[in-house]
This record gives sequence, structure tokens and C-alpha cells, in this order.
Amino acid sequence: MLKNFWYAVEFSAAVTNKPKQITVMGTNYVLYRDSKGQIVALEDRCAHRGASLAGGWVEKNCLKCPYHGWGYNSEGQVELIPADKPGVPIAKRAKIKSLPVREKYSFIWVFFGDLPDEQRPPIPQLPEFDNPTWRIVSGEYTWNAHYTRVIESGLDSAHAPFVHSAFFSNRDDAEVPSYEVHTDEWSASAKTISKPPKRVGLLKFIVKRDRPFSSAELTVHLPNINRITLDFNFRGYQYIYFASNIPVDENTTLTKWIGLRNFLTQPWADWNSRKNTIDTYLEDKAVIESQHPRVVPYHLTGEVLVSSDNLQIAYRKLLRKYIDRGWGIGDYGLDSQQLPEESLNAIEEKEASSEFLTI
Ligand code: FES
Ligand SMILES: [Fe+2]
Repeated sequence: MLKNFWYAVEFSAAVTNKPKQITVMGTNYVLYRDSKGQIVALEDRCAHRGASLAGGWVEKNCLKCPYHGWGYNSEGQVELIPADKPGVPIAKRAKIKSLPVREKYSFIWVFFGDLPDEQRPPIPQLPEFDNPTWRIVSGEYTWNAHYTRVIESGLDSAHAPFVHSAFFSNRDDAEVPSYEVHTDEWSASAKTISKPPKRVGLLKFIVKRDRPFSSAELTVHLPNINRITLDFNFRGYQYIYFASNIPVDENTTLTKWIGLRNFLTQPWADWNSRKNTIDTYLEDKAVIESQHPRVVPYHLTGEVLVSSDNLQIAYRKLLRKYIDRGWGIGDYGLDSQQLPEESLNAIEEKEASSEFLTI
């Protein structure tokens, strides 16, 4: 994963004063609300003898370890050791890591890294979230896949007629019209045009019968956000899928998503938004979980990419930019990438001359 980014790791509503464990790239953290309702995120490993604090409780604004009752403040410093005589000083190193936290867009965002506040990359914008004309549903889904593969599937138009044939039936007409990619410091996106999906289910109410094409804006915000905006080209109707693909470990991704729509905003239509998302996941699952290597290759020549992959190429270039800056950790530490025998120079030359890289 990349360090020095905010990661949306949980829904706000899921965190109370009862400690809750989350796992990010194989490390456990514990989240809870203090007496003021502020979220606290700590490393979930007691400094005493390693017990999980998620099995503990919050008392007098301290998180208590369930093993010997040590009490941690929100900075991760131990303030109470019940087995010691009163007045015995507590070692400074009786401390665990406390991580910066924000609440935004119904998510809890935790900063993994070592940059000071003013140098941290921003949390992506989602202005529709605060606009009451949009109706919002949420959900989560677990993949046995690396999060980079999950992200790339959300950037990919070319698989729709094959994997999502229930909506896109025509496999004989699968050409992807060329599209432009826009990249900035933290994100890459493209507006894509495709054949319109079938007017099934509630789509009958929001899609015109004779619609010649369908358009979507596909975006990746580093480190792990997919945003897909479906435009139904009818009365301004749109559906926005905004998902945090959480790297639980190298083989597991937990996607926590919200879906925003500005049509059929009555609660009775919520089931349809959820069903469409889950159906899409189920269709994607088999192919995404089959991909090897698990992590997308560091080198652009590691796979044969064509012009319909231009958005994924832009994503891989962004990844590389921050890996090269030293922000890759764990699966994205350069040492852990299986580099081929060829020298790095030879690979770079090949990439520079590759006819496949059209952006
Ligand atoms: S292991 Fe936590 S107090 Fe002993
Ligand atoms: Fe898909």
C-alpha cells in the first residue's frame, strides 16, 4: 500500500464507545469514540504484553486493556497501571501509536504515514454528499484479491460486455471508443462512452428508450478510492458510486462503498441501488480474484496493455510516482515486487519505446 495518504477505513456509524478492530495491510488498529464523541485510532497491540485492545472498554476517557487493565489515553500513552502501587511513575515508552483521524462523507479516514498535517494529500472531494437532493445508500464487500486489481476493475470499460452481460449484451460489438485521460497530482479520470445498457428493472424509469449511448466518468483517487459517475443522459439523472477499497492484506480487499442517486430518491428504491452494486460485484468477483500477479505490476511492460487500458496505465503511473518517492510500504515496498532478471535500465528503455503506451 501507499503511505502518507488518508484511508477511509470504516463507516462513521459503525464506531461507538465500544472499541472496534480494523485491519490494514496485516496490522490491526482499534477505533473508538471518546467521551466527546471524537474518534480515536490506536495501534491494536498493548504495550504491556501484546493483547488486543479491541476486547477492552472505554472508561474515564481511557481505553482499558482487557488483560491487566492498563489504561490508554487518546495519544496512545498509558496513564494507568492497576497492578502498580499508586504514585509509581509510568514509563514514557508505555505508549502505542495513535493515528490522525477525520470524519467525512459518512466515513472514518485514518492517516497512515509520517507527514505533518499541512503536507498531507487531501481527502477527495464529494460535494454531492452534502446536497440533500441526493439519496445515499451504503454497503461493503470482501474480495480475495489485492486492492489494486479491484481499483483497476472500476476503471475498465472493456470488460462490461463480457463480465456484465446481463446489462451489456452485445459481445460482438465490444470496441471501446477512444477516450481522454485527465491526471492530476492524486487522481486519474476519464469520460467513457459505451453502448447503452438494457432497460431492465428500475432503469426503465430513468433511461430513455432510444438512447444511442451511455456515458460514465471513471476516476481513481489515490490511494484507494474508485468513483464512478453514471450519466443517464435524461433529466440530469446520475448515479455516483464512491468506494474505499481497503487493503486488509495482500490477498484481501474490503470495499466500503456509498451510492448516491438524484432520481427515485424515495427509500423504497434503495434496495435497487444496493442490488445493482452487489450483482456487479458478484459478476466481477471470479475474474478479479483470478488475476496474477496479485499486485498490479510495477513495470508497465509487465502486462500487455492496449489503448482501452489508458486509464489503468495512468493509474499505474501514479502508483509508480509515489512508490518512487518512497511511499510504497509492504506489498509496494520495491523489494517485495518480483522484479524480472533484466536490468532496470533495459526495462525503462523498453517502456519508453512501447507502442502500447499511448498516453
Ligand atoms: S497485555 Fe494489556 S495490560 Fe497486560
Ligand atoms: Fe465490473
